[in-house]
Amino acid sequence: MKAAVLKAFGSPLAVGTVPDPVLGTGEVIVDIVATRVLGYAHEIFSGQRRYLMELPMIPGPGGIGRVRATGPDATHLAVGDWVSCDPTVRSRDDLVSPDIILQGLTAGSAAAQRLQRYFHDGSFAEQIRVPTENVTPIGAIDASEAPLWCALGTLLVPYGGFLAANLKAGETVLVNGATGSFGSAAVTVAMAMGAGCVIATGRNETALKNLARRFGSRVRTVRMVGDEEIDRRHMLEAAPAPIDCVLDLLPPAATALQVRAALMTVRPYGRVVLMGGVGMAGGAGLELDYAWLMRNCVTIIGKWMYPPDATPRMVALIRAGLVKLDDFEVTTFSLDDVNDAVAHAAGNSGPFKMTVIRP
Ligand SMILES: NC(=O)c1ccc[n+]([C@@H]2O[C@H](COP(=O)([O-])OP(=O)(O)OC[C@H]3O[C@@H](n4cnc5c(N)ncnc54)[C@H](OP(=O)(O)O)[C@@H]3O)[C@@H](O)[C@H]2O)c1
Repeated sequence: MKAAVLKAFGSPLAVGTVPDPVLGTGEVIVDIVATRVLGYAHEIFSGQRRYLMELPMIPGPGGIGRVRATGPDATHLAVGDWVSCDPTVRSRDDLVSPDIILQGLTAGSAAAQRLQRYFHDGSFAEQIRVPTENVTPIGAIDASEAPLWCALGTLLVPYGGFLAANLKAGETVLVNGATGSFGSAAVTVAMAMGAGCVIATGRNETALKNLARRFGSRVRTVRMVGDEEIDRRHMLEAAPAPIDCVLDLLPPAATALQVRAALMTVRPYGRVVLMGGVGMAGGAGLELDYAWLMRNCVTIIGKWMYPPDATPRMVALIRAGLVKLDDFEVTTFSLDDVNDAVAHAAGNSGPFKMTVIRP
């Protein structure tokens, strides 16, 4: 099959022919039709993000495709089904604390690298082999719609955060970093889950105005100025009710102060979910006040990705029209032009924009 291979950090991806994946029990092989390119893929492939990847590797964070073959233990999937492949692969020998890898992207820890050695390759290829539980039917679609369905990969991340926080309809939510790719998806998902009001923060005034225009009066935007006290005051002033849930999705370039400004807007007994990349590039820690956390009964949740059943639930939200894929603007590339796709994604990441490869 044809695939793009990362042979060394800092080198361009090499497109060539590699052996087809071989099916094992508990696995599915999927013909990849569309796979998205993260806006920060160039930082991963250059080595800047220090993702744990044993090279050479076919990278790529899951995608949309059709079932090519199933193992003997699949009872529902059929050859030809349209499916979403979730890159969040969990070790199967510890149900309480499984190791996690993002197949084709990173092992979460040194221990998880063993799992990565087996589920090693990602979706920048004509075929991918994934654990059966990572394959979710999306229902019949036209092949031309496959790139739009790649938005699942973006929407599922904040959905995982809100599920972890047990977000309830009518609640007031604050999304920190709402002008980013995952942050704007968080606003979409919070609205679909019935949030009463979403406070959307960011520094980019144009992006904030676009969010306000897109979502109407249930979304209130706050432009961040970089002063912890002032920013927090502005967020609290914008909220029509105490803030029940804060979701942070700031990137590694942001500081812990930017996170803390938002985190401490949460009401007593509220929940905060940390999902961003802050600290990955070093820098000071959060330095939260012990007594403030304790006296206010605040829950802080760290969340990487989402639970396995999040995908069928998100597919249902999309099928019900509560999340609209048409909101996304997609630029597609062929697998041969994978390096152009990575460069394009770097320069064009942001709210409701996707770069997609069609192998
Ligand atoms: N936990 C998980 O499962 C998970 C999964 C995927 C990704 N992530 C994390 O999510 C992060 C966000 O990804 P993304 O693709 O949404 O990034 P992005 O599109 O670049 O968005 C980040 C946003 O943060 C804001 N920001 C605030 N301070 C910033 C600073 N000092 N430098 C740069 N931006 C700043 C920017 O908006 P303004 O310029 O308007 O402020 C920007 O729109 C990633 O870095 C990744 O680590 C987590």
